[in-house]
Amino acid sequence: MEVLTSYKGKVCIAYVKKGGIKLSKINKVVVLGAGTMGNGIVQVVAQAGYQVVMRDISDDFLAKGLKTIEKSLSKLVEKNKIKADEKANILGRITTATSMDAVSSADLIIEAVPERIDLKVKVFEEIDKLAPAHAILGSNTSSLPITAIAAATKRPEQVAGIHFMNPVPMMKGVELIKGRVTSQETLDKAVEFTKSLNKVPTIAMDYAGFISSRLLQAYCNEAAYTVMNGNSPKDVDDNMIYCANMPMGPCALMDLIGIDVCVFVMQICEEEFGPRFKAAPILKQMVNAGHLGRKTGQGFYKY
Ligand SMILES: NC(=O)c1ccc[n+]([C@@H]2O[C@H](COP(=O)([O-])OP(=O)(O)OC[C@H]3O[C@@H](n4cnc5c(N)ncnc54)[C@H](O)[C@@H]3O)[C@@H](O)[C@H]2O)c1
Repeated sequence: MEVLTSYKGKVCIAYVKKGGIKLSKINKVVVLGAGTMGNGIVQVVAQAGYQVVMRDISDDFLAKGLKTIEKSLSKLVEKNKIKADEKANILGRITTATSMDAVSSADLIIEAVPERIDLKVKVFEEIDKLAPAHAILGSNTSSLPITAIAAATKRPEQVAGIHFMNPVPMMKGVELIKGRVTSQETLDKAVEFTKSLNKVPTIAMDYAGFISSRLLQAYCNEAAYTVMNGNSPKDVDDNMIYCANMPMGPCALMDLIGIDVCVFVMQICEEEFGPRFKAAPILKQMVNAGHLGRKTGQGFYKY
């Protein structure tokens, strides 16, 4: 069966196998990318007892990723959440690789490389050639269309969004995105896998921003307008914390996510849903000033 999809004017044809393929039990997981999300995903997967390979393009990135995991596990030991020997066992289940050949024995691959459609398409073409036929291919994208990423493979029915939240070890929710041709069996496996990590899966359809980014960005954009209207970021944040019981205010949240990242996701939602997602002028001004939030030391707040 052929399914036509399009992304930014490019028509992609996804070939869906008739009858599908039997998906086997997940034992070995490969995570592509050792960055902010990749190393967090590797940690929680290893904590759940899976053998996991962390793959990045250089040993330096891998060493940095491993160091972050080591630190995070040490904190859990300090807080008595895990024992010291458990930490050693978890680290023992993690191996690293710079070669893409690592995916050749994987049951599940989770891609967490930078948020660029050209890069994701290239990576999925590559892993499709090397991964076993039964393997499920997941993408941690927070905004790009799963259907377009899946169309880069010959197994689009085995591709799903597996969207972890930052920081991965702390956040309970995982958004699973059903592409236009993702099979129910793949989605069921993703649900089962997510639960095995002691996380809570929610299913989202493959439209820009899925559920989490779409709702959050609409909320954050309106918060930016309230600041533009003269309200202080602290008043806006405290209002939401104390009047709506939010754990954190929207301005502090945007500073954490990165103002540039917020504007980028708003633009993707605007392309799909129209002007209601047009980023507030104050956000564009902040990007121009380099006030991107925590990562540059200045956003709505000074750090
Ligand atoms: N940072 C967040 O808060 C957040 C939250 C949810 C989802 N995401 C999504 O997760 C993905 C990764 O984001 P991040 O913040 O971890 O990025 P990051 O820049 O911190 O890490 C990306 C890593 O991927 C590596 N990489 C590049 N090409 C690669 C390849 N071909 N194979 C393996 N590794 C490769 C880079 O060297 C880098 O170490 C993006 O799609 C992003 O949208 C990010």
